[in-house]
Amino acid sequence: MLKIAIIGFGKMGKTIKSLAEQVGDEVTLTFDVENKSAFTAENLKRADVAIEFTRPETAFENVKTCLEAGIPVVCGTTGWLDRMEEAKAICAANNGALFYASNYSVGVNIFFAVNRYLSKLMANQPQYEVRMEEVHHTQKLDHPSGTAITLAQGILQQVSSKTKWVTHLQTVENQQFATPPDALPIISKRVENVPGTHIVTYQSSVDTIEISHVAHSREGFAKGALAAAHWLVGKQGCFGMEDMLGF
Ligand SMILES: NC(=O)c1ccc[n+]([C@@H]2O[C@H](COP(=O)([O-])OP(=O)(O)OC[C@H]3O[C@@H](n4cnc5c(N)ncnc54)[C@H](O)[C@@H]3O)[C@@H](O)[C@H]2O)c1
Repeated sequence: MLKIAIIGFGKMGKTIKSLAEQVGDEVTLTFDVENKSAFTAENLKRADVAIEFTRPETAFENVKTCLEAGIPVVCGTTGWLDRMEEAKAICAANNGALFYASNYSVGVNIFFAVNRYLSKLMANQPQYEVRMEEVHHTQKLDHPSGTAITLAQGILQQVSSKTKWVTHLQTVENQQFATPPDALPIISKRVENVPGTHIVTYQSSVDTIEISHVAHSREGFAKGALAAAHWLVGKQGCFGMEDMLGF
């Protein structure tokens, strides 16, 4: 049984609390904007581990506070990768434990592996043009999704005709975007009540190969984050899903 502090009591924080209680963990504290003053090292130390799902602009500071308080932290907030190296350095300086995943769903991590394998097969098939699409609910603040960025990185490592990804937010149906030939386009769509859909398409003049992952609810993310919290306690260092799942 774990004592868990939840930082960010929004859609994910609430789903994680209810799952944690179902498996016998204790949620000792929940922090959100209205009780920010309670977010202290002293209070954090009442928990074995913290799980952080807030907003891109606050995640780094929250992770830093946990690491400096000596509390292992599982972070799921996306859109703050520019400060990840700094967070890793703070983790090392404090002999701490940090787990980060752009997507905690086991299914999505299987999809990441399939994407890497497909992009390897496509490395020497220049007749195929690759593109990506991600669809999320309308409250999602960042685009492209952290999951889409991870998928894009997997493709860019293999498909040498693409040197970077570019993001296009589609606001009107069938909107067309200009993409430089060396760029991998990621089309982001925001649609009511969609937990998360990712599609990778390779198209040639004669056929199309497409792989997709469709999340049915937030539960898969919450289950994975809770599993990561159990896995992380007692470890030191920076980890991701590939460490926990072994692929
Ligand atoms: N890694 C994953 O598997 C995964 C899955 C789903 C969502 N996410 C990401 O997690 C984040 C949260 O998603 P959500 O759907 O729960 O969003 P949400 O908007 O429902 O909840 C975020 C909560 O954080 C609170 N918050 C904001 N600033 C805070 C601060 N400084 N301290 C404490 N709380 C603060 C907000 O008041 C809100 O209640 C987003 O970045 C989202 O993209 C990641």
